[in-house]
Amino acid sequence: MEQQRDQWATKIGLILAMAGNAVGLGNFVRFPTQVAQNGGGAFMVPYFIALFFLGIPVMWIEWVAGRYGGKYGHGTLGPTYYLMARESVKPRSALWWGVISGMLAFSLTILLNSYYLHLIGWSAAYSWFSITGAYFGKNTGEFFVQYLNNHAEVMFFWGITVILLAIAVGQGVSKGIERWVKVMMPLLYIFAIIMVGYIFVLGSPVDPNWSTIDGFRFIWTPNWGYLKEHLAAVMLAATGQIFFTLSLGMGIIQNYASYLGPKDDVALSGIATVSLNEFAEVVLGGSIAIPLATAYAPKIVPPEVLAKGKTEVLSWIGHKFGLGFSYTSLPNAFVSMGEAGRLFGALWFLLLWFAGFTSAIAMYNYVVALLEEDLGIKRNVGTWVVLVIYFLAGLPVIYIDGYMDQVDAWVSFQLTLLALFDIIVAVYLFKPDNFWKELHEGAWMKVPEWYKPIILYIAPLLLMIPLLGMVKSLIGTTLEWPARIAILLMWVIGFIESYYSIKKKYGEELEKNEVIIKV
Ligand code: PHE
Repeated sequence: MEQQRDQWATKIGLILAMAGNAVGLGNFVRFPTQVAQNGGGAFMVPYFIALFFLGIPVMWIEWVAGRYGGKYGHGTLGPTYYLMARESVKPRSALWWGVISGMLAFSLTILLNSYYLHLIGWSAAYSWFSITGAYFGKNTGEFFVQYLNNHAEVMFFWGITVILLAIAVGQGVSKGIERWVKVMMPLLYIFAIIMVGYIFVLGSPVDPNWSTIDGFRFIWTPNWGYLKEHLAAVMLAATGQIFFTLSLGMGIIQNYASYLGPKDDVALSGIATVSLNEFAEVVLGGSIAIPLATAYAPKIVPPEVLAKGKTEVLSWIGHKFGLGFSYTSLPNAFVSMGEAGRLFGALWFLLLWFAGFTSAIAMYNYVVALLEEDLGIKRNVGTWVVLVIYFLAGLPVIYIDGYMDQVDAWVSFQLTLLALFDIIVAVYLFKPDNFWKELHEGAWMKVPEWYKPIILYIAPLLLMIPLLGMVKSLIGTTLEWPARIAILLMWVIGFIESYYSIKKKYGEELEKNEVIIKV
């Protein structure tokens, strides 16, 4: 076909890039938050069920779809899902499956990045504030509010982050992204392991009644009573977390997989991605924020709550846990560590920065690939176009209260919706036998036959839980006009873009309504 597409240069580079894609703020902040808010050990049971029956299947589906699109020179979902749907339906119907999938993926990337990049920027800022001891001796809650209100400072750290992203992505997949992640991912794991090591020996740093063990016990003791009482809510949270943490339902796993050769393994590589992510999430992510918060409870939790006993304190931490927790409450633990806390705090925020950065690279590359392949805009120009788009998309996050939370609620829903499209298009319309064959093309492992019905029937059924649950909770939340306009606008742009890109390349096919281009 046309010019040679970029490909991953090394296997290890590919695996680290995929791990970087999946390991993000979700592993170190969102995961402990979900655990804390959903009854600790009660959360872990449905979490592992969702991982096995939904996370792994969808991960494989996205790898297969991505490599397939790459064969035709596509790294975006619109044309890729058009091609896959074409296996069952006529090109003119396949067009709509492609257009809608492409629209969902494009709008997700922009909407998610409007705030995700700000969160990464905050971590950059807080790495600096920790090293310099800026919040030491102050009220950390007030300090955070002051920081957020200092827009110049917020934009400065956002800017550093995004410019570095643009540079990395501008250098291309094998020469840019792959080289950057080969340095960043090992560092990320090393930082996290150092922190976990420190926490393992921390014991009871401030009060003999409060130890890291309390935190570990909270996570690792299955709480059947809680689970029974809040089954629907916990299942919903657990499945949602699996999608978020594995970067599924976005099009970015497909995008990375599109830079594979047609006979490169996807089966074992998909499992490797899941394993590296789960190690970072359950083992590392689970051993930092919660044990730290419990061991330092007397410094974090108000005295009146502290007096009520352990269960109350853990539930307080659970409710308080959330995005802000890392920036408002956890710093109190770092302050209590004295001088060592500066280093420990910096390590924590740098860890978040690295984790967020390597996920953001993947999303950045999706939009650059879209400009490059679908619209003919060169990579070195496209990267800066994306920067401007991100800048504009991020403005409401700074200026409009509540915008971020509303967009986030919508994003979680749309991720799940796109995962449904993954199963419908890349398995059913593509035809289950083709899918199974593709999964094993060049594979380094054989997926056992009994796993096939899990992918075909159990995964889509399980997917209905978060999908319906989220529809219900979305009906409850009111999206205000700014969020509505942003979502609608991104849909319209995504729709037009996908339609145009499929039409441009497969116009003749659509005209005659029969398959012509086949590789
Ligand atoms: N998986 C990444 C995380 O855990 C980020 C991400 C989420 C990327 C959703 C894309 C979609 O933070």
